[in-house]
Amino acid sequence: MTLASIETGTGLQRALAQSPTDVVDVVDRSGIRGRGGAGFPTGRKWRLAADSPAPDGRRYVVCNADEGEPGTFKDRVLLADLPDLVLEGMTIAGYAIGATEGVVYLRGEYCYLRDGLVERIGARRAAGLLGNGVRPGFDFEIRLQLGSGAYVCGEETALLESLEGRRGQPRSRPPYPVTSGLHGAPTVVDNVETFAWVTAILAKGADWFSAVGTDRSTGPKLLSVSGDVARPGVYEFPLGVPIADVLAAAGGTDARAVVVGGAAGQCVPASLFGRTISFEDVSTGGAFIVIGPDRVLLDVAENIMEFFADESCGQCAPCRIGTVTILDGIRRLREGRCTPEHLERLVRLAGTMQVTSLCGLGQSSPDVFLSLLEHFPQDMRVPASPGLPAQLVPAGGGE
Ligand code: NAI
Ligand code: SF4
Repeated sequence: MTLASIETGTGLQRALAQSPTDVVDVVDRSGIRGRGGAGFPTGRKWRLAADSPAPDGRRYVVCNADEGEPGTFKDRVLLADLPDLVLEGMTIAGYAIGATEGVVYLRGEYCYLRDGLVERIGARRAAGLLGNGVRPGFDFEIRLQLGSGAYVCGEETALLESLEGRRGQPRSRPPYPVTSGLHGAPTVVDNVETFAWVTAILAKGADWFSAVGTDRSTGPKLLSVSGDVARPGVYEFPLGVPIADVLAAAGGTDARAVVVGGAAGQCVPASLFGRTISFEDVSTGGAFIVIGPDRVLLDVAENIMEFFADESCGQCAPCRIGTVTILDGIRRLREGRCTPEHLERLVRLAGTMQVTSLCGLGQSSPDVFLSLLEHFPQDMRVPASPGLPAQLVPAGGGE
């Protein structure tokens, strides 16, 4: 992994030797986009936070370590093995946007990582890399806060609610955290991996990073490869890598499909394994779940929908009602009880959820179900009907 070869300390040292604006410029020029999945340009996010008025002078940096997407475990590996790269990236962000405090919001289930991270924060403070006078005029502290096991708290505004001591429920956006985040102050919320790469970018330069990947998806990306493969694990590939290459590396060349992007993603059939992992093609926050030839696809659909029905915070109707209705529909399909008319209604409902749910959980929850219907209608036991959308009429298995 390239990140493992990055010497800690150099990135922060080089950042502190420049003006905060120059640091934002370096991050911007590298082209790095958020590694949590959505791919918002990191430099643009930092500039917006730095330029947002902070009436009482407070700005915050939040590390989203609430890694909860099923099939995603690359952040856990970074926090366990390379925590200083992450803490250093947060400090660089703090300097760049003029923040005085950073918070690592750690997934509750990762509580076993807490002591190690707190120890590293203390060691950095003792070394003068945190606390007062990291550089003349720049004071920066990092603290850690544990989540309590709700997947929705990985959504940045629910995370902020949780940090402020309230129930973790998403807020409407805008305003985005860059203008009104933690305690209403300008806040940068970035994924664990994003902070680690920022440290590498400051250490090795924007050009070093942007030389890898594609024009619109620069740099390397960590992938959590799991499922029906011989060698599961965390892999690093340049963005733009074909799905087939990832499968070859992990020993999964007989795969029927890959669920990319985690539960909130899409199911890519074998006929499309030439497509690439990139923000312009098949985007992922890191999950790469391989579906082998013996896997029952209705089980996959049911498992994922059960997860969303369970984790929906219940705040808005499309998600609260839609997730359980689609789960019920999947069970009807399995039992041969789903009429064409009902399936049509489910597909329409899924479209409504995508556009009317308040947050990404509800918006993306039907995605895998829809892509399984599209690519594998026979496996999903789609009832034949001229009334169904053309792509859902069974036509030879979809592969
Ligand atoms: P989003 O596209 O709405 O926002 C992405 C980031 O860009 C956020 O930080 C947001 O504040 C910022 N942003 C977007 N538009 C902005 C604007 N106009 N001005 C200022 N800032 C702006 O995506 P969202 O809903 O925050 O995240 C969804 C992604 O998270 C999905 O790709 C999903 O797969 C992924 N995800 C990852 C998980 C993990 O464990 N890594 C868990 C759950 C979801
Ligand atoms: Fe809650 Fe779902 Fe609405 Fe998001 S979409 S706010 S998780 S009910």
